[in-house]
Amino acid sequence: MSIYGDYIKSVIRTVPDWPSPGVNFRDITPLLQNSSAFRKLIDSFVHRYQEMDLDAIAAIDARGFIIGAPVAYELGCSFVPVRKKGKLPFKTISQTYTLEYGQAEVELHSDAFRTGDRILIMDDLIATGGTMLAAAELISRSGGQVVETAAIVDLIELGGSQKVREAGHSVFAVCS
Ligand code: PRP
Ligand code: ADE
Repeated sequence: MSIYGDYIKSVIRTVPDWPSPGVNFRDITPLLQNSSAFRKLIDSFVHRYQEMDLDAIAAIDARGFIIGAPVAYELGCSFVPVRKKGKLPFKTISQTYTLEYGQAEVELHSDAFRTGDRILIMDDLIATGGTMLAAAELISRSGGQVVETAAIVDLIELGGSQKVREAGHSVFAVCS
């Protein structure tokens, strides 16, 4: 949790039964519309990671890009997109995974990192953890060292962050 965790949580909207019955969708658009809240969010990440000597932030398509790019800019490290299947033009490596509401595949350019590069993975939310685990697997396969995985929201009750930890990765979330 960040010191702004309760505040950030208060500006995220929950939409029940979207995109399918039983899913409580955490909608970050009110947070993005609130410039003060968005600044506090980005500053929380920058504060946490400024001394960690990161080489790159690998952000997950699409909502992870919204936070990953400004944090990479502030830290002065590389930004690497982990994209949904079929979007990257060069040689890729890919990983399939299961979502809270479907199946998907993520891809990474095979030359995105050098061996041993220190990588932070960022996304907006961890639900089942499938997306974060797939991204971590891709980064490890391409020679990167996953320093931490970070999200705005951790839906702890779905057990995803626990799975990510059990796979050997550190998890940081601003709120749950
Ligand atoms: C959402 C969210 C995470 C993922 C979390 O992405 O942004 O990436 O699901 O779920 P998990 O922990 O169960 O894997 P989505 O695929 O809906 O894509 P979007 O960012 O393009 O909206
Ligand atoms: N991705 C997977 N589950 C989600 C949820 N409940 N809210 C927002 N994004 C999600």
